[in-house]
Amino acid sequence: MNEAVQTSSAFTPRVFSGIQPSGGLTLGNYLGAMKRFVDTQDTGVQSIYCMVDQHAITVWQDPEKLRHATYELCAGYIASGLDPEKSILFNQSQVPEHAQLGWVFNCVARMGWMQRMTQWKDKAGKNSQNASLGLFAYPALMAADILLYHATHVPVGEDQKQHVELTRDIATKFNHDYGVDFFPIPEPVIEGTATRVMSLRDGSKKMSKSDPSDASRINLRDDSDTIAKKIRKAKTDPEGLPSEAKGLEDRPEARNLVNIYAALNEQSVDQVLADVGGKQFSEFKPMLAELAVEKLSPISSEMTRLMADTSQIDAILAKGAAQARDIATPILKETYKIVGMVG
Ligand code: AMP
Ligand code: TRP
Repeated sequence: MNEAVQTSSAFTPRVFSGIQPSGGLTLGNYLGAMKRFVDTQDTGVQSIYCMVDQHAITVWQDPEKLRHATYELCAGYIASGLDPEKSILFNQSQVPEHAQLGWVFNCVARMGWMQRMTQWKDKAGKNSQNASLGLFAYPALMAADILLYHATHVPVGEDQKQHVELTRDIATKFNHDYGVDFFPIPEPVIEGTATRVMSLRDGSKKMSKSDPSDASRINLRDDSDTIAKKIRKAKTDPEGLPSEAKGLEDRPEARNLVNIYAALNEQSVDQVLADVGGKQFSEFKPMLAELAVEKLSPISSEMTRLMADTSQIDAILAKGAAQARDIATPILKETYKIVGMVG
């Protein structure tokens, strides 16, 4: 049964977030996104998580690899602890209303807003004339992802803050232009010690699945030896660990490793430093490697198990898409009515 559409400013809290199936998952995705999604699902707030395959194709994707990455991402969500009985988990292209609302928002967003997006500038680079139109319009589709569910809270990593702010601008302009109070103004939720996990090779760059150096990141599918080796080789400075967070200022690599430890062990940075302050990295790195293997290897094995029979994932995705559409359909219908479309 379809839910009633909320049209007042008192919106029920609802969480939405998405991850692109555009390659393997990294420790950055796990700590900055997935682990936090899992922590949210027991708070009683309805949570909706999406595999945004339509975002992924804004840059070239090999079709077979895209399909595989979508299954892997779904397996990654579940292996990280996301329970499809508690949260809605689905694939964007199986809910066509995203693209439909995305078109309406293409007509609300302004060229100038899009041109200011730092991710567009980074991804399009010098050759922006040759970038896809989809890459340019992508933040309007992201706004549709969120607002199609009247979501009020969007847990993301630091890099997505600007896109959530643009979503707020689109919602505000839509409400203003049509004289309605229809879309909520969603809040980015950027909390915890791992909202920006940095590269293991360069503390000024974020850990990313697209970094050409595999040593720069920990992949969720890395085996224990590889994880330990990458941590052993991670860049640090010659000093030992301080006993307070203040001592990590201007030491981006040291801070990153401590942040990762804190996030994996569910401690604050100060708690970690109270234990390890005074140690050298030669002692701390093996502790971090052991912790990372302990936390990540069960996720990796569960992903392997799930990937062995993708029919289970197909069933989860079909159910998730149906649940998502139950919420999305009436909201899109009401949007069309507000805009003046006959139907
Ligand atoms: P992406 O893999 O770019 O689709 O990102 C999916 C989610 O993971 C988003 O919420 C990102 O903000 C988050 N994320 C990606 N890389 C990192 C990182 N290095 N540190 C923290 N969060 C990240
Ligand atoms: N743009 C996000 C990224 O690259 C992924 C994304 C798409 C998303 N739609 C979203 C995140 C909606 C949060 C909410 O990481």
